[in-house]
Amino acid sequence: MTNSIFTHRSIRKYKNDEIPANIMELIIEAATRASTTGNMQLYSIVLSRDENIKNSLLSCHFNQKMVVEAPVVMTFCADFNRFTLWCKQRNAKPGYNNFLSFFTAAIDALLAAQNACLEAENHGLGICYLGTTTYMANKIIDVLNLPQLVVPITTIVVGYPDETPDLTDRLPLEAIIHYETYTNYTENSINNIYQQKENMELYQNFVKENQLETLAQVFTDKRYTQKDNEFFSEEFLKAIKRQGFMP
Ligand SMILES: Cc1cc2nc3c(=O)[nH]c(=O)nc-3n(C[C@H](O)[C@H](O)[C@H](O)COP(=O)(O)O)c2cc1C
Repeated sequence: MTNSIFTHRSIRKYKNDEIPANIMELIIEAATRASTTGNMQLYSIVLSRDENIKNSLLSCHFNQKMVVEAPVVMTFCADFNRFTLWCKQRNAKPGYNNFLSFFTAAIDALLAAQNACLEAENHGLGICYLGTTTYMANKIIDVLNLPQLVVPITTIVVGYPDETPDLTDRLPLEAIIHYETYTNYTENSINNIYQQKENMELYQNFVKENQLETLAQVFTDKRYTQKDNEFFSEEFLKAIKRQGFMP
């Protein structure tokens, strides 16, 4: 069976093997074939393979070992720098130092990232996204030397898998689809939607290990807390401002 999004699973253990140059090129080319706002391609990809750079990135990603174990780390950045420079060189006045432009470029960066993932998986490679990119954007800006109007949005590690995890669960399709207009959830529908997840042994163990009452509390009290969310919101806003998007 060829790999496709239907066989995707995040890979967190990697072999040492390098990725051949022609495959790396296809992954980058696939990223650039993503739809992009006004065909402006408002992103850049920083490809890190050097051990020193990867070691500097390691702490930015909360010491997740795959950053140094995978042969390639790709940081996808919202980038209005290149386009702005072009405008200035062509007697065109750029108006991109604002939040909307940041968000537009962030969308472009994410679409490119997902295309890169799909192409990598097509070649038998594994990937894992790192959400720590937005938490630690300021430090990543320093490590990667990102200029004004460039903000890191997401990171993927890429390499040959050294594990074969099962597919992870998803909510049933009816949980996420709304026909024609949005139908809000009832207490009953929320119970039905989350029932399967809550009954899985894996998640029941999460609850036990954390000595909590419900799976939802694992998210609110341990994994994505209000306190952390507020702290990292401030940090990310600082990064967006620092890079000149919200002067
Ligand atoms: C934006 C984003 C950030 C993520 N950050 C991390 C991360 O920092 N560490 C990690 O191990 N997995 C991370 N993941 C992977 C998710 O945990 C994973 O996609 C999810 O559990 C579903 O599993 P699957 O990808 O195997 O289907 C991230 C995924 C996304 C989309």
